[in-house]
Amino acid sequence: MPEKRRPDGALPPHPTLSGYYGRDEDRPDFVRGLFDSAAPDYDRIEGYMAFGWGRWYRREALARAGLFEGLRVLDVAIGTGLVAREAVRLAGGTSRITGLDPSAGMLAEARRHLGVRGVLGIGERLPFSDDSFDFLSMGYALRHLSDLAATLREFRRVLKPGGTLCVLELTRPENRLGYAALRFYLRRVVPTFTRLRTRNRKAELLMRYFWDTIETCVPPERILTAMDGAGFVDVRRALVIGLFSEYTGYKPGTRPTPPGPARKPERSNFFVRKMER
Ligand SMILES: C[S@@+](CC[C@H](N)C(=O)[O-])C[C@H]1O[C@@H](n2cnc3c(N)ncnc32)[C@H](O)[C@@H]1O
Repeated sequence: MPEKRRPDGALPPHPTLSGYYGRDEDRPDFVRGLFDSAAPDYDRIEGYMAFGWGRWYRREALARAGLFEGLRVLDVAIGTGLVAREAVRLAGGTSRITGLDPSAGMLAEARRHLGVRGVLGIGERLPFSDDSFDFLSMGYALRHLSDLAATLREFRRVLKPGGTLCVLELTRPENRLGYAALRFYLRRVVPTFTRLRTRNRKAELLMRYFWDTIETCVPPERILTAMDGAGFVDVRRALVIGLFSEYTGYKPGTRPTPPGPARKPERSNFFVRKMER
């Protein structure tokens, strides 16, 4: 599938949503402002939006991607730390995890809850040396990047040879009924519920924006092509219940092997569909 690049060469994950932020240049500030304002309520919103399954699912997804004890992890878009918390459990301690986020409010929550190293920054320009991490995760932030291609090149740069990339993202369901149900849920139910539960107008706006970015996000094939283009190998996507996409790929090189016996297949694999390319 051909890539839709901007004249400056950037590959945005969705078209300009001018009703929210006007021009593309204003998007990073708009997004940062939303997350800063919603930060104190984010975990509560995520809890009811995902019916309490979000943390368990994140852990399963990281384990499926091959995160095991001893690996050094960078969690890009750490937010309040929902992915990082599970990474701490799997990698075996907070000292192995570094988080990065442009929202000072979200980062403050992550530091408070987890005590991990938190760095202010964006995925497009990582303030880390080449070959620094064994595993790089990014949960539900792909839609907020300004340039997917530049970000993936940065991910490859900071991963050690053989390192793993694991990107979690929501994908518009292909099934029409599933699409209609999700649209109603995320566009109507979640924002209304958020307003009633948090009285936080910015949090409500974030949830409306959330759906609009899912609806207009580039299709999975374009994300996989961008991962290929950034130099990742064995790039693939697994799809869980037709909604949760797990993109994985490796920086070329020898992959680290887990200590002890091979991990048993997860029960949740029943719900996971490996996508053919
Ligand atoms: C929906 S939250 C996800 C947080 C966490 N990963 C999770 O699974 O709950 C998206 C996060 O992406 C961050 N973000 C927005 N733009 C970003 C960028 N350009 N680079 C890295 N993170 C970004 C936001 O500040 C926010 O904390």
